[in-house]
Amino acid sequence: MKIIKVKNYDEMSKIAANIIASKIILDDHCTLGLATGSTPIGTYQNLIKKYQNGDISFKNIKTINLDEYVGLNEEDTRSYRYFMNDNLFNHVDIDKSNTHVPKGMAQDMEQESERYNRLIEDLSPVSVQLLGIGENGHIGFNEPNDYFPLKTHVEKLTDSTIKANQRFFEKGEHTPEFAITMGIENIMSAQTVIILASGIKKAQAMRDSLQGKVMPNVPASILQLHKDLIVIGDEDAFSMMDI
Ligand code: F6R
Repeated sequence: MKIIKVKNYDEMSKIAANIIASKIILDDHCTLGLATGSTPIGTYQNLIKKYQNGDISFKNIKTINLDEYVGLNEEDTRSYRYFMNDNLFNHVDIDKSNTHVPKGMAQDMEQESERYNRLIEDLSPVSVQLLGIGENGHIGFNEPNDYFPLKTHVEKLTDSTIKANQRFFEKGEHTPEFAITMGIENIMSAQTVIILASGIKKAQAMRDSLQGKVMPNVPASILQLHKDLIVIGDEDAFSMMDI
């Protein structure tokens, strides 16, 4: 495990973008595993800058995202497909048909999960999987549990996740209770995993995940077993760890 401790969110975002850009430079046909949420937005902004400066191209890049809310269509501004278009894909030269997010409006979510697992295999190897971390230690939407779900599946979101994500929805508006997410084995199959964490709210999850026991009650703890894990966090996120 490589731990990179930085001052703040901006520094974290720059370093993450540099690492992802280096993967693109080494293989401009590679597959990137991407995440949504507040954490990777700065990373995407830095990648867009690198594209605008002519340093990287996404022309032949393929992407696969971790998750999507069940019940939101792609035009919904709160959907993760919309987020990815808005925060990255619309600003670079990627071919959108090479970008993949699970379909939250699929008629049969079991079939959609199977389709997504096959897609992950077809696009393998995922060169680098970008992750954020939930306050409860979730990765993707794999919530604390008594086992590690291996493959893409529908997950009931915990109250703490629904509360944390309420900020993306209007007050009083119904926040989705289910999401379709890659499983732990899907995530672990990436060649390199980068996990980002910024802010004091992530400090406990970071300590439990990186220095605690590997257990499904702290899903991110499984990352300790990944052969090429890069952890980039700011001072607040590492504030409960002695590093
Ligand atoms: C998003 C995802 C989630 C988030 C996590 C942290 O695709 O899979 O695991 O990374 O909930 O969210 P933020 O970054 O908003 O704190």
